[in-house]
Amino acid sequence: MCNFDQYFPLGLASGEAFCDRVEIRKTILRNINSCRHTMLFSPRRYGKSSLAEKVMEESGLPCEKVDFFVAKDAKVIESHIVKSIRRLIGKVVSGPEQALHIIKDSLKHLRPKVEVGTAGLNIEFELTSPDVATNILDVLSALEQIIKKRNTKVIMFFDEFQQIGQLAKGMSIEGAIRHVAQETKNIAFIFSGSNRHLLATMFDDSNRPLYKLCDQMNVGRISEDDYSQFLNHVADKAWSQNLNKKVLAEIFLITERHPYYVNALCSKLWSFKTAPTKQDVRNTWEKYVLSERSRAITELDKLSATQYYLFKDIACGRTKDFRSREYLNKTGFLSSTVTQALNQLEKKDYIYRCNDEFLIIDPLIKSSLQYFSEDAI
Ligand SMILES: Nc1ncnc2c1ncn2[C@@H]1O[C@H](COP(=O)(O)OP(=O)(O)O)[C@@H](O)[C@H]1O
Ligand SMILES: [Mg+2]
Repeated sequence: MCNFDQYFPLGLASGEAFCDRVEIRKTILRNINSCRHTMLFSPRRYGKSSLAEKVMEESGLPCEKVDFFVAKDAKVIESHIVKSIRRLIGKVVSGPEQALHIIKDSLKHLRPKVEVGTAGLNIEFELTSPDVATNILDVLSALEQIIKKRNTKVIMFFDEFQQIGQLAKGMSIEGAIRHVAQETKNIAFIFSGSNRHLLATMFDDSNRPLYKLCDQMNVGRISEDDYSQFLNHVADKAWSQNLNKKVLAEIFLITERHPYYVNALCSKLWSFKTAPTKQDVRNTWEKYVLSERSRAITELDKLSATQYYLFKDIACGRTKDFRSREYLNKTGFLSSTVTQALNQLEKKDYIYRCNDEFLIIDPLIKSSLQYFSEDAI
């Protein structure tokens, strides 16, 4: 029996594990070619990083990613950005003599040192300012100059970029990035972020440096048709047959086509000797939810009593009319308390609004709430 885990990774999806996203990939590539910057947003684990990395690979251009997720202070961000720019420069200039000439000429004030190592060029800068934003501006401008001289293009991917907005120095770093990004014809920036609220404060507020800098794109869930085609392709490899339509429908119903959970569930289903039935799908999901119980509890522990109550009601099927007299009478909540709790749940990306309904983003948390709730509808 083969192992099919490679088709359903829990980390980045690449190669044969990457499903669809054809249209959005084309649009991002078009943006890159015209040096229009792109901002990808979606809740966590919908596939932004996988998508950006796929497009970078397809572009064939030198590219670098800076992950802001773990960057909790401005100095760490500076160091990540500087390292990635050093690597990018090393990718763009070839041959030590040419490198020395171009780098020394463009980076005079950063007193560059270039060494030729087995893994290519190793470039060091001397960052002269105590101010992080000034240093970031310096190295980005230097990169821009070098790329311009080489008459080429590069891609910089700033992943989980909303983190920067959390820092005291965030605005000045955003300002440094804007300074280069709005002029450049050679560096295509891709930003991605998971918290809609934080991103909106950075990109949609006219007082912030990054206002209207990017083509903003919502990375949604993958369509049923595309997933069906992909899953049937892998089913054919495993069991020499397509999946029954009811089985596919059950996978989509349970996971709500959330890419991370499709992979989590399918990696278990594809260890079956024969093609799974609808009941197998249900049982496998139920076992998975139970095995993740403590993670769900940790998440739910972060909520206030009112938030938890509303969240549980949403999970159990009530998706609207939370400020109706009937609901307020039943719960004893004040209308303002309900509004505040729903806003908080939305702001923290537990729920999202679709037309006039509230829906839960994470299907595992939703199932956990249903299973653990004593008064499930
Ligand atoms: N296009 C895709 N096809 C198949 N699986 C995907 C795709 N994009 C993402 N995934 C899966 O979804 C999960 C989250 O992907 P990731 O790119 O890390 O999301 P994000 O950056 O939005 O948090 C991973 O399990 C990944 O393998
Ligand atoms: Mg990511």
